[in-house]
Amino acid sequence: MCGIVGYVGPKSSLEVLLGGLRRLEYRGYDSAGVAVIADDGQLVTRKRAGKLAVLESDLAAVPLPEGTTGIGHTRWATHGGPTDVNAHPHLSADGRIALIHNGIIENFASLKQELVDAGCTFDSETDTEVAAKLLGREYEQGDGIAAALARVVARLEGAFTLLAVHQDEPGVVVGARRNSPLVIGLGEGENFLGSDVAAFVEHTRRAVAIGQDQIVVITPDSVTVTDFEGGPVEVHEFEVSWDASAAEKGGWSSFMAKEISEQPEAVANTIRGRVVDEQVVLPELEGLDEVLTDIDRIIIIACGTASYSGLVGKYAIEKWARVPVEVELSHEFRYRDPVLSERTLVVSISQSGETMDTLMAVKYAIANGARTLSICNTQGATIARESDAVVYTHAGPEVAVASTKAFVAQITALYLFGLHLARLRGTVEQGRAAELVAELRAVPDKIAKVLESADEIDQLARWMSDSRAVLFLGRHVGYPIALEGALKLKELAYIHAEGFAAGELKHGPIALIEPGQPVFVVVPSPRDPGSLHSKVVSNIQEIRARGARVLAVAEEGDVAVLPFADEVIRIPLAAPLFEPLLTVVPLQLFAMSLATAKGLDVDQPRNLAKSVTVE
Ligand code: F6R
Repeated sequence: MCGIVGYVGPKSSLEVLLGGLRRLEYRGYDSAGVAVIADDGQLVTRKRAGKLAVLESDLAAVPLPEGTTGIGHTRWATHGGPTDVNAHPHLSADGRIALIHNGIIENFASLKQELVDAGCTFDSETDTEVAAKLLGREYEQGDGIAAALARVVARLEGAFTLLAVHQDEPGVVVGARRNSPLVIGLGEGENFLGSDVAAFVEHTRRAVAIGQDQIVVITPDSVTVTDFEGGPVEVHEFEVSWDASAAEKGGWSSFMAKEISEQPEAVANTIRGRVVDEQVVLPELEGLDEVLTDIDRIIIIACGTASYSGLVGKYAIEKWARVPVEVELSHEFRYRDPVLSERTLVVSISQSGETMDTLMAVKYAIANGARTLSICNTQGATIARESDAVVYTHAGPEVAVASTKAFVAQITALYLFGLHLARLRGTVEQGRAAELVAELRAVPDKIAKVLESADEIDQLARWMSDSRAVLFLGRHVGYPIALEGALKLKELAYIHAEGFAAGELKHGPIALIEPGQPVFVVVPSPRDPGSLHSKVVSNIQEIRARGARVLAVAEEGDVAVLPFADEVIRIPLAAPLFEPLLTVVPLQLFAMSLATAKGLDVDQPRNLAKSVTVE
């Protein structure tokens, strides 16, 4: 949420900044702006409401002078609407400092009043301009931009990453962070700052994640990180495990289309290196055997799509490891005074590893004595670093704002964790565990098979492009998939969609069914002895009797659904717990195709941003 990039080095900073902003645009696309210390020593800025393309065409029409120091921003609006004036950068009163910000400064109103009382005037409605004006005032003490920034951040409350440049200090970019992400990119004779590594991965794969309450100063040849008081801190360099091409669209029509198609690899890469002799062994959890054997409860916390992966994971972890699992939205968890102990394991799930609601919930869990594990897709992310341990998903960079491949990778990681736990606790016999591992390993090929129905689903979505509401039903692990199918359709196609547990239908939602109402039903396999297949077929009959148009997602060979479904989308045979990794795919494809048929931007849906770093 809000992407920021900074650069010092011999290259044209504008080109580096725009390249970085292109890769960060998924974090917000309400406006974009840049500030450059030009070679003639002047600080120049340009900012425009709208997507980055608006700024780019503006810069193409009226170029900015060249410079080798600069900062850039792409905004998801919080304080103040998406206008040119509210776009970042914001300037100090004398116009010599430019500052950009990601986060929310919670005490901005009192600081603004203080500045107004001192005679300061403001152009925008943003909290960010308060920090810019404050920085200008602190700079007057004459000890440089870094010292001035340290005094400013000491007064700010809330969440922020700030980057600033001063026209009298060319070759220097300063940054500070609290509760919002900031990563350094280490180059040769050049250095970078970014909200995440995507900002600079085309230039360098050497990175350092900046810790909580730290200040960084980069010049072409040096990087200095201190705490807010100026004390030294230890930094850990890491190598970004993917290259720039992984975050390119390639020949695909959208990042969403590319990422849906990458799901077989997302699952396969998440499994890789974590199976030894047909048993799951998570090397990253080495040393935690005693803790994991001793826990008496797991609470999974996450938001949105990640929380639905948690709901799927609950079924598997409870079944295999026999530990009670609760799943809760991060923002609800931390405000209800949950009962936690050192035997509670709080598992956070986050693609970005920066979602503020989840980060705060993790901190709450730690402060209240629970053990923490994170499932995360972004190396060095804050949530991963705050937790006792991390199991990374290896989905690769997810650029489309709506999550797809991260979801299947999260379920995979949860299943690996469930099997690891079951091995430690002796709750699944070895031969059975080997069968489950084989099932998991077979998933990538099966997803590839589901992807072959993309054209058929595209047709269906085109026929349905004028639907006003779509319902989704599922039972057991099909229920979270119904929730996820509905979320994908809402956020991509702006169609009202709801997911329900099919058993819940008769308790109220069935009143929504009227002739022609489209309803997707996730149908479980009939082959399993304890299968809920017949119950779901009964639910289908109930809605069919009331005129619903039924779109069933059912396994190959399931003929029992045929008389009751208007359309059947087939998935390959899989054991019941592994079906969600397959059944979600047609629902993702459907939402994408329907949004495309409506002429919508599937990568950047309205009002959304990836990596939600505000509460
Ligand atoms: C929906 C979507 C969101 C995210 C949620 C959590 O398509 O992408 O619901 O799943 O904002 O994000 P992370 O996983 O980054 O914590």
